[in-house]
Amino acid sequence: MNKSADIENPEISIEDLEEPLTYPVEAFLSPEYAKQERERLWPRVWQMAGRLEDIPEVGDYFTYNILDESIIIIRTAPDTIKAYYNVCPHRGRQLINTPDDENTVRGRKANFVCGFHGWTYDLEGRNTYVLDPEDWKGALNAERTCLSEPKVDTWGGWVYINMDPDCESLRDFLEPAASILDPFELGKMRYKWRQWAIYPCNWKTAIEAFMEPYHVAGTHTQLLKYGEFYAYSKAYGIHGVSGFDERDPDRKNSQSSSVTRAGKGGDPRVSTYELVRENYETVNYSAATETLVNAAKRLVDELPEGTPADQVIAHMMASAKADDAARGVIWPEISPEHMSEAGLAWSLFPNQTILQGVTFALCYRTRPYGDDPNKCIFESYALERYPEGEEPVTEWVNAEPTAEKWGSVLAQDFANMEWVQKGMKSRGFRGTLPNPHQERKITNFHRVLSQYMGTGSPRLLDK
Ligand code: FES
Ligand SMILES: [Fe+2]
Repeated sequence: MNKSADIENPEISIEDLEEPLTYPVEAFLSPEYAKQERERLWPRVWQMAGRLEDIPEVGDYFTYNILDESIIIIRTAPDTIKAYYNVCPHRGRQLINTPDDENTVRGRKANFVCGFHGWTYDLEGRNTYVLDPEDWKGALNAERTCLSEPKVDTWGGWVYINMDPDCESLRDFLEPAASILDPFELGKMRYKWRQWAIYPCNWKTAIEAFMEPYHVAGTHTQLLKYGEFYAYSKAYGIHGVSGFDERDPDRKNSQSSSVTRAGKGGDPRVSTYELVRENYETVNYSAATETLVNAAKRLVDELPEGTPADQVIAHMMASAKADDAARGVIWPEISPEHMSEAGLAWSLFPNQTILQGVTFALCYRTRPYGDDPNKCIFESYALERYPEGEEPVTEWVNAEPTAEKWGSVLAQDFANMEWVQKGMKSRGFRGTLPNPHQERKITNFHRVLSQYMGTGSPRLLDK
């Protein structure tokens, strides 16, 4: 059991998640619950703060804000990252101003000079200057005047922080998800684009919209012509994964659970191309790559009619791999069995989602916006593996939640989230009825959340 989540919750175990369950909606709606998250949840979990690629040089920093906390993540040596609470020990001024309308603040520092009275700190967080220190009659020492540090560590190219001084290691917190995702070499991918918005729903309502493909048939109806979207959903400790469940034995192929798979229709050479292209173009150029689309397009020319789906996929992957190698993008070796186990998309507790491919990933993060349970900070970004030196330069873009800015598929998700937030408030809502097979990631999320919060556990539905 996860160390930080060891508050006993005898009601629901991982095995119980296979049964029909319900979980309470208080977690999405209650201002009191939102306030309690400040103490019970956020200071006790590892939180993804940003990407290492944003701090390549010594002195590069970015800020990560969660509710009223602000943390500075800074590279202090070529191989060392440190994190500091963004506050001057003198009288509490933020060292780096973090305006609400900026998602993060980035820059480079040789040291931190507080804007109020000029106290100064080196990259190691030590105080190097106090004006008139003799006035304190010897009471100022290094311990009183240095910056405070939360825990910090990295995985997959991300930087994580934890405000709990006694927390378990990041690796322990992320397992087994980290080991299953390691072969994708996410740390070698770079931002393709990154966008954020203040969105009118709870941060959990928002992240849950990306936890299950069960909504594809009702929300992304245009995709049904290209693929089958029956899915499984599985808990791995405090984290979870979803994947496509191939029900037709004739169409089984080794990678059918992941985003790169055969499409629907009589000729898999054609349907695979259509599905890959659709995923690429309508999900803001992020659920595939140009290399994959081009390799898929050639399938009809390169393979005879009647080639079975698994061979079509194997051929597409091999030719995309060769095309990428020719331009300097070397694919990691991932066996078909591992590809299948890794599934479609991971949810890392509490608020990080990764839909992974061999050379790309589509990711989401949501955070609360103040104490208002009806608002969140929503972020999505795409990662891709580029030839060295050809990585694009990107910045966070504040973007209205429209199809024009986010692609048509994401806009369809946006078109649900705020109405879920409103609908759940109805006294006519008898409670959630999540799908025990396809939405188990969500019930697992509520199982773990309730352990941190000490309230709101899922419970079995009477049969
Ligand atoms: S608050 Fe920072 S120097 Fe006074
Ligand atoms: Fe969706």
